[in-house]
Amino acid sequence: MSETTPRLLRALAGETLDRPPIWLMRQAGRSLPEYRELRTKASDFISFCHNPEMAAEATLQPVRRFPLDAAIVFADILLIPGALGQKVWFETGEGPRLGELPPIEAMADEVEASTGRLSAIGETLARVRAELEPDRALIGFAGGPWTVATYMIEGRSSNREAARAFAYQQPEILDALLDVLVDATARYLIMQAKSGAQVLKIFESWAEGLAEDVFERIVIRPHQAIMEKVRAAGVAAPFIGFPRGAGALVENYAKAVPVQGVALDTQASADLGRRLQAQGKTIQGALDNLLLRAGGPALDARVETLLNQWSGAPYIFNLGHGVMPDTPIAHIARVVERVTGKAVKAMAAE
Ligand code: CP3
Repeated sequence: MSETTPRLLRALAGETLDRPPIWLMRQAGRSLPEYRELRTKASDFISFCHNPEMAAEATLQPVRRFPLDAAIVFADILLIPGALGQKVWFETGEGPRLGELPPIEAMADEVEASTGRLSAIGETLARVRAELEPDRALIGFAGGPWTVATYMIEGRSSNREAARAFAYQQPEILDALLDVLVDATARYLIMQAKSGAQVLKIFESWAEGLAEDVFERIVIRPHQAIMEKVRAAGVAAPFIGFPRGAGALVENYAKAVPVQGVALDTQASADLGRRLQAQGKTIQGALDNLLLRAGGPALDARVETLLNQWSGAPYIFNLGHGVMPDTPIAHIARVVERVTGKAVKAMAAE
């Protein structure tokens, strides 16, 4: 790989580097004053995501402010249900709301058209790639089918009890819904790769609490199927899988799904990470976003621990869950400076 090959791609190709690449989940968003300013110009969050000019700006804001090794496209995992014909909107301060679940067959008929309805995200990626320095990687993403299905079934963020009950009581319907989501997600990720995404990440944010056989059925198999379809389309971009909350089942996931990177959540032990590295996976994580917000000596100490325990094999520094909106900029700057060894320029608006 050449000198300008982004660190993130080198780490995902299995290289152990002099320091790990760093990016942060939800690095774009409400923790940044410039994002909050930009956000006031959009009528609503979904239109923001579908506006390439604004979404490209939001994607670039964190990489202008901090010497991060990657940008992640500004979008949301709930754009796919919208593209399949389910109503999706965001209540200010409360999070996502979804309308009634359309019949599965009706959504199956929309799969091909759904990718075209997401073309604005491809345009955002192309704009960002044109502006981003060649040594920084651009990440595209989608939600894991099960996680997206939990929102589609429950209509909002919740404890997911209804979605899990649905998985047990109506397995055929859930499987049919997952098949539709696998197909739509694979097409969406192919489109993202063709538009400039160099890494593809699957956010399976609600992988917790599932019995081993159910985890295999509703998380592992759909991820395998997505990757098969993406590879069949000739897309070689590395994948990062993030089965958040899967606990010990992360190891089942890593064995069965041919992702290059496995993102770990905050509870991942040093040993778990090392076992995955020994299996040939690049690991990512797993700083607690609450600790990033809290700051102080405990944050400094944890950053050292993570670097010490995992930097000897392929590792990507990141959080175990997204940056919280009220995280002080100074805490983010301190961690990025420590990991990269590069100074963060002071900026006026804080
Ligand atoms: O910087 C980035 O990481 C890129 C953009 C990104 C967003 N959402 C923007 C966003 C990414 C990768 C996501 C993924 C996402 N969206 C997930 C998976 C990761 C995770 O956090 O578990 C999930 C579950 C969603 C669904 C979602 N979107 C919820 C539950 C919410 C409301 C909660 C909240 O933080 O407000 C969102 C809204 C959302 N997605 C915002 C942003 C910047 C805030 C909306 C706003 O600014 O008004």
